[in-house]
Amino acid sequence: MELRVFDTREQMSAAAAEFFAERIKSKPNIVLGLATGGTPVRMYAELVRMHREGKLDFSRVVTFNLDEYVGLSPDHDQSYRYFMDANLFNKVNIRKKNTHLPDGMATDLDAMCAAYEKAIKRAGGIDLQLLGIGGNGHIGFNEPGSPSDSRTRVVDLTPETIRDNSRFFTDESEVPRKAVSMGIATVLEAREIVLIADGDHKALAVARSVEGKITPDVPASFLQEHKKCIFFLDRSAASRLSR
Ligand code: F6R
Repeated sequence: MELRVFDTREQMSAAAAEFFAERIKSKPNIVLGLATGGTPVRMYAELVRMHREGKLDFSRVVTFNLDEYVGLSPDHDQSYRYFMDANLFNKVNIRKKNTHLPDGMATDLDAMCAAYEKAIKRAGGIDLQLLGIGGNGHIGFNEPGSPSDSRTRVVDLTPETIRDNSRFFTDESEVPRKAVSMGIATVLEAREIVLIADGDHKALAVARSVEGKITPDVPASFLQEHKKCIFFLDRSAASRLSR
């Protein structure tokens, strides 16, 4: 596991965007795994800026997002499809048909999850996966207790995640209780992984993931088993690491 620590979250986001841009330039038909949430917003804005300046072409890029809420339609402003369109896809020249998110409205969710895994395989697998991290160490919506062999499936959100994510909704009662998420095994199959984190509230989860024992209690600790995983952190998120 490699750690890159930056003074500010702006610097961290710019460095992560630069890393993704370099990978896109060296493989224009790259398959990216993408994340939503507060942390990647600045990084996506940087990628949009590079595209607008004519420095980055998304025309052959293929994407698979980590997760989606169950029961939110793509036009709901808290659905992850809406987030991705608003923060990245609608602002660059990516082909919409090359962007994939789990369908949280599918009538047969299990069949949809199996089809999602197949689609990732058919695309050749994920070259570069972006992750954020929850305060409880979750990656995607793989909450504590998620096994290392888990794959794309329906998951129950923990009370902590529901509370954390309620900041994006008018009321906590509106936060969906279930989501579809790639599994730990799905994530670990990516050829390269970048995890981004900023702020004091992530420091303990980061330290437990990097320096703690590998355990389903801290899903991000499984990243220690990956050969090419880099954590991009600001000083606050790195503050509880011993190194
Ligand atoms: C989002 C996702 C989540 C978030 C995590 C951190 O697609 O998979 O694991 O990355 O909850 O969220 P923020 O960035 O809002 O702190």
